[in-house]
Amino acid sequence: MYAFKLPDDFLIGTANSAFQSEGAWQADGKSESIMDYFAREFAGKYSPGSSPVNKVTGARNLPNAEDLPDRGCFFYDNYETYIEDMAKTGQNVYRLSLAWPRIIPAGVGEVNPKGIEFYNKVINKLIECGITPFVDLYHWDLPQCLQEKGGFACPEFPEWFEAYAKVCFEAFGDRVKMWSTFNEAQISIHNGYCVGTFPPFIVDRKLALLAGHYNLIAHFRAVRLYKSMNLGGKIGAVNCIPAIMPARMVPEDVDAAERRRDWYFGWWTEAMLEGTYPQKVLRDCPEYRNNMPENYQDDLDKWFVPMDFIGVNYYVANRTQYDPENVLKSTPVASFYSAPGQRYAPYPAGLFDVVQYVHERYNGIEIYITENGCAIPNINDKEKEIEDPERISYLREHIRMCCRCIKAGYNLKGSMYWNDADSYEMLDGYRLRFGMTWVDHQTGERIWKKSRYYFSEICKTRMVN
Ligand code: NOJ
Repeated sequence: MYAFKLPDDFLIGTANSAFQSEGAWQADGKSESIMDYFAREFAGKYSPGSSPVNKVTGARNLPNAEDLPDRGCFFYDNYETYIEDMAKTGQNVYRLSLAWPRIIPAGVGEVNPKGIEFYNKVINKLIECGITPFVDLYHWDLPQCLQEKGGFACPEFPEWFEAYAKVCFEAFGDRVKMWSTFNEAQISIHNGYCVGTFPPFIVDRKLALLAGHYNLIAHFRAVRLYKSMNLGGKIGAVNCIPAIMPARMVPEDVDAAERRRDWYFGWWTEAMLEGTYPQKVLRDCPEYRNNMPENYQDDLDKWFVPMDFIGVNYYVANRTQYDPENVLKSTPVASFYSAPGQRYAPYPAGLFDVVQYVHERYNGIEIYITENGCAIPNINDKEKEIEDPERISYLREHIRMCCRCIKAGYNLKGSMYWNDADSYEMLDGYRLRFGMTWVDHQTGERIWKKSRYYFSEICKTRMVN
């Protein structure tokens, strides 16, 4: 029996988010999101919270994207041809997100029928093409009007989110059977509130821990609501996890690596699956312990409800060393196997490591790789960019790792490549290309890269050579 074969029920496909793929930011009643707002406000400048030089690597941090998401993303107007391409690829899943400001432009209250209509068309088209819609309620694009009322850090946030989730479950829950609440809460909270390199660009640990806490309660409220509606699907969340390993084989580094993983991944995952925050971080790090929201455990006890699966976004490895000066008493140092200076340096073996970790730590929970992708700097040269042997190797190695995870008995049920077609990369704008389809960000022209043909063979044969 050939080893690198995907089970028949394995979900294999691509992913993208509303903000990064749709464009049309003002079309048909949509309001501004925090990402639209900050892209406009800070285009071409360094993020308010970031220094031009990275303190860890010494490399220059990139300034924010110079171009805007609405001038180079075309999914809103061309969703049919994007989905027809997915069907031709032979994939059986597409992970997308719904834009809250498209569905409820004022954040709370009145529903925009045009927003519902758009996602109905997208979902129906996916289903008609035999593709399972895997839908995130939230992927970066908080309505700016809610940010102005305090955003994640506002005590009303969980209620706002539950009301938005209700609209989505009622409108799409008859056809969408795979839901996730939040994408990478860690990035929204750590980057957005601790280090200030992501909207809303705040540096305040106490506020970060409060915003993260409300984010978790919002997650629980949506999961509770979904379960009470008996719609027959599954609901989980998407968290990011680097393959974090100790730099040296000494107990201090093992502990340091654990604390780093517990803040990046465990903070959200342990809370979502077990209703507690990681004790090692609280015990060893006063900056965390002393800044926790009041009665946080009572809130968790009140709202906790376990979810059905965990979505794992895996990109990079991270070698970690004990550092008494750092708030987590832990610092990342140069990783094994990494290409110096390369952003998102691939480390395929790490996919096995993280799935093994999640499987063992969280008692065999159902796992999906909800993101994994190869970033190549944009040189705006169609002929060269559609030849992408690095991405072919990347896909091959990472999907082979999925096969190894399954053989090892881990409960891995799907893998989604980030991303379907070149799009807008958060603060990098169009400077990076992750897509398996090449996109001309001026004209919208799309061409399959070589990697998409390769991926298509994997989807159709369900084998990896
Ligand atoms: C994870 C995020 O969910 C996605 O929005 C982003 O584009 C990729 N990482 C690559 O940075």
